[in-house]
Amino acid sequence: METQVKPSDTTSVWRKKPLAAYEADMKKSELKRVLTRWGLTSLGIGAVIGGGVFVLTGIAANEWAGPALALSFMMAGIACAFAALCYAEFASILPVEGSAYAYSYGTVGELFAWLIGWNLILEYMMGATTVAVSWSGYFEKFLHLFNVHPPVWLMNDPVTAQEKAEAMRAAGQAVPDFSFAINLPAFLIVWVVTYILVKGIKEAASTNNIIVMVKVATVIFVIVAGAFYVDVANWTPFIPDPVVDKTGQTHFGFDGIVTAAGIVFFAYIGFDAVSTQAGEAINPKKDVPFAIIASLIICTILYILVSLVLTGMVRYDALDLKAPVAQAFADQGLTWAVYLITIAAIAGLTSVMLVMMLGQTRIFLGMAKDGLLPRNLFASIHPTFKTPWKSTIFVGAIVSTVAALTPIDKVSQLCSSGTLFAFAMICGAVWLLRVREPNLERPYRTPALPVIATLGILANLYLMWNLRHDTKLTFLVWGILGLIVYFLYSRKNSNLNDLPD
Ligand code: ALA
Repeated sequence: METQVKPSDTTSVWRKKPLAAYEADMKKSELKRVLTRWGLTSLGIGAVIGGGVFVLTGIAANEWAGPALALSFMMAGIACAFAALCYAEFASILPVEGSAYAYSYGTVGELFAWLIGWNLILEYMMGATTVAVSWSGYFEKFLHLFNVHPPVWLMNDPVTAQEKAEAMRAAGQAVPDFSFAINLPAFLIVWVVTYILVKGIKEAASTNNIIVMVKVATVIFVIVAGAFYVDVANWTPFIPDPVVDKTGQTHFGFDGIVTAAGIVFFAYIGFDAVSTQAGEAINPKKDVPFAIIASLIICTILYILVSLVLTGMVRYDALDLKAPVAQAFADQGLTWAVYLITIAAIAGLTSVMLVMMLGQTRIFLGMAKDGLLPRNLFASIHPTFKTPWKSTIFVGAIVSTVAALTPIDKVSQLCSSGTLFAFAMICGAVWLLRVREPNLERPYRTPALPVIATLGILANLYLMWNLRHDTKLTFLVWGILGLIVYFLYSRKNSNLNDLPD
């Protein structure tokens, strides 16, 4: 089923999908509308709280920001807030699946929309991959609690496995040689999530609600219980003096805080996943903007408090790099709390994967319905489960393979680069739409839009600029690949070609 739309210009890369066509899409949607306002918010929080706060806080504070990690969280949160306010207006106008991709197709034009969709692939797929690897790390820690120590080659990608084996040998441990390594837990958890998603959004949503409650309760526990163990001396100096490393990068000081903001930006990724679920929301025009903003506010407050507690409990240069939150409690001798946090992190990371992979399939669905991706793969809905099952299995296959074989740091930064760029683009697009279509019905209006959109573009591009050079290069290659696919496939197969002038 295709949308019959009359393009504004049948050959231009700026051709747009008329807004009326979205209404038609929504009416035809085969997805079930089951999600409420708090269900959506729960999906947002489920997508947001994960590897960022449970894992990356350690690296960010230990190596880059020190106790000023809270400022990095504020900085990243502000960049996200500008984007969230813009997202909310877009979502209220066009509550369809496909997220920022769909919004910009109706407003800016096909190529712009394609590039956003292409970057959202980095956000969602690489985000899910990063979290799968984080999950594996916490799972390993969980096994260690029971004195189970699986071989290195079964728990890590080939590069990390060799690095770990060498470090263990250097520490005097006997590690047999191996020629093959795979992160098996990461691989398997992705397929568990894929199975849940193929079976249906309703089950996914109810599973997710329980996990989100456990996760939020644990984060609140960390803040409240941890507060009793804060030693204010650990906060001095709050901003350690800058140190320049061999590569010329500055750690600590203001520059360090900004770099840490780019790292913990990952912790916020996912609030926009709410907008990919609009097709399944009961009252999307009101509830999607509500859920986007509510989930971002809740997570920002929690993150700032967690980072203050964490850097107060343990001196920043002694923070653990792999499981800093659990380790902070272990250092205080609170073993029972370590069990609790490890289990909650495992469950919490699962829910992040769930929403990330769900979001990815819905973006593909939107793109395939428009003809920009093959319909038989990405828009095929299961007759019983009513889910895009082929697309879900496709996403599962890619995420599980990359997670099994790739180191986490490369994947997480790539995820951030795609997201930051997409956020900057969306801020520009929502502003453009206000200028071009001032009379459009907007159930939610971004306050002081020109200011918010400008700040959003600048803040997100600034954080992107501060990512590592190799990340920026990979991002560029990915963009060029996207253009090739667009001109070789998508442009030729777009629905906008099928109509008479
Ligand atoms: N924000 C998500 C996380 O931290 C991606 O895991």
